[in-house]
Amino acid sequence: MLIGFVIVHLIGNLQFFAGPKLINEYGTKLRHLPFGLLWVMRLGLLGVAVAHIATTILLIKENRAAKGRGYARSSSVQSKIATRLMALSGIILLSYIVFHLLHFTTHTVSPQFAGWKDGEDHDVYRMLVFGFSNVGISLFYIVAMVLLAMHLSHGAASLFQTLGIRTKKMAFILGVGAQVLAWVVCAGYISIPVAVLLGKYDRSHVERAEQAR
Ligand code: HEM
Repeated sequence: MLIGFVIVHLIGNLQFFAGPKLINEYGTKLRHLPFGLLWVMRLGLLGVAVAHIATTILLIKENRAAKGRGYARSSSVQSKIATRLMALSGIILLSYIVFHLLHFTTHTVSPQFAGWKDGEDHDVYRMLVFGFSNVGISLFYIVAMVLLAMHLSHGAASLFQTLGIRTKKMAFILGVGAQVLAWVVCAGYISIPVAVLLGKYDRSHVERAEQAR
């Protein structure tokens, strides 16, 4: 479900390249979904994220208990490095998500976003341009997306293993598939801050919005 969210969120965000109208209408539609559906989705996502963290902690504990103190040296140095990176990338990603929510959802980082409107719509486009014009913030997003790709590639491969799909025959294809998925998602997300930093956005929209203040 988390992998699904990351893909759907990316598709929504890529509407940035279609211009302000589409992404702003999309943002407004999401915020005004009927029957409190937005909150159902938010709480569902939060539940899945908490379950992901909780089961990971349990798994680490179980693994440690199963290993006991028997090993003076581990034979699988490679998997140890990957596991360590999973924990580190997971913790950094969690901090990234907290920052991201404070940035674009609650507008705590830039309170002016709350009042930015494009007609009746919430001006997501202007918010993205303003947010990513800050080089530090863009770099933080880019680093977080690379970590996301690392986390996702290992996570997707492990998912196939858990589901029992990763037979000896399929291992190579699924491994490559997981890598391709992770790095395509990473490139998609990174393309937005990069486009803003290169000035590849609708300047007239942003200028009009600033004059209308
Ligand atoms: C360059 C990358 C990204 C951009 C441009 C972006 C953009 C946005 C925007 C504009 C919103 C606020 C929508 C609104 O309230 O109008 C948002 C919300 C959110 N984003 Fe992202 N996002 C990015 C990456 C990610 C990633 C990698 C994750 C998760 C791993 C993520 C998770 C979320 C979540 C959980 C929300 C809150 C949704 C809600 O309102 O409940 N985002 N994002």
